[in-house]
Amino acid sequence: MNILITGASGFIGRQLVRRLQQEHQNITVLSRNGARASQLLGVPAFDWDYATQDVPAEALQDCQVIINLMGENLGDGRWTKARKHEIYASRILSTRKLVAAAPESLQAFVCGSAIGIYPGSGDDLYDESYAVPEQLSFMQTICHDWEVEAARIEGKGVRRVSIRTGVVLGHGGMLQKLLPVFKLGLGGPVGNGRQWLPWIHIDDIVSVYTAAALDTRYHGPVNAVTPNPVRYREFATAFGKALQRPAFFPTPAFVLKLALGEAAVLALNSYHIVPKRLQEEYGFQFKFIDLPAALADLFDKSDAVKQDIAS
Ligand SMILES: NC(=O)c1ccc[n+]([C@@H]2O[C@H](COP(=O)([O-])OP(=O)(O)OC[C@H]3O[C@@H](n4cnc5c(N)ncnc54)[C@H](OP(=O)(O)O)[C@@H]3O)[C@@H](O)[C@H]2O)c1
Repeated sequence: MNILITGASGFIGRQLVRRLQQEHQNITVLSRNGARASQLLGVPAFDWDYATQDVPAEALQDCQVIINLMGENLGDGRWTKARKHEIYASRILSTRKLVAAAPESLQAFVCGSAIGIYPGSGDDLYDESYAVPEQLSFMQTICHDWEVEAARIEGKGVRRVSIRTGVVLGHGGMLQKLLPVFKLGLGGPVGNGRQWLPWIHIDDIVSVYTAAALDTRYHGPVNAVTPNPVRYREFATAFGKALQRPAFFPTPAFVLKLALGEAAVLALNSYHIVPKRLQEEYGFQFKFIDLPAALADLFDKSDAVKQDIAS
């Protein structure tokens, strides 16, 4: 398959490119800095500034699958008005342009989304049948509009999958940002610690994207979270244990904000989500459903890997 990936230089994208290459897929990427992305990933890359340019036509030639991962990182700095605009536009406007430019050859459009589409409070359990209301929070608006833009591709007879991703555990993302806090022994519960944290191991999210791209049964919104969600308190204990650090003392709000920026709000929200469609419709086999095992896989390795994570 000829697969075009945006945001391929990011935390999920880098691992996804590697997996798809192992599966002998033909990868091309779009990046704000094509030369850097090509050097990093070892695949052809094109420059694309979504705000000022149309999608480069050469990148779309004979393209059969688009995987759209790009978007301004939520955890990098304050959510000023300008950054909120960039968080939104780098996902919604880019998706709109990709859909508009879709070539005749396109068979599937796999697009990022997030568990932020759900309300983020309480203990109620949510699956993909949740009807997104009209009054939405900032996070819900982004995810909702992202999915609406992606779904427009269906009007061209192209299969669409929106991957409602939970907190990805791996050598990047939220875990990497929390690492210094836990190393200082300050990684205890946040708030009352009862909020649900929907996690997924990096190997599993890569498998979900791979399946969504190649398995024609996948369509529509798909929750990508472990079937075994935990409360934040449990997560903090398990992460502390994996790092052999105490995690009893509640993390002060300002420390959390230093680590995660305004995305700290996501650690305080409660997302009790199940991967209903992955399990019931597609028979997806998770490699990691147990949190301590997932963390042990990431952290109980050689010192070299630990240093790599810490750097
Ligand atoms: N990681 C998670 O836990 C998680 C959870 C839920 C949803 N997601 C979603 O999944 C997608 C991939 O996640 P990730 O963790 O791999 O993200 P990431 O590491 O932040 O990488 C995203 C990529 O998007 C591009 N990008 C960043 N800012 C941009 C901007 N302002 N305009 C245009 N392009 C920009 C960059 O690629 P170039 O520099 O090559 O252009 C970057 O490598 C994201 O859209 C994210 O919202 C992730």
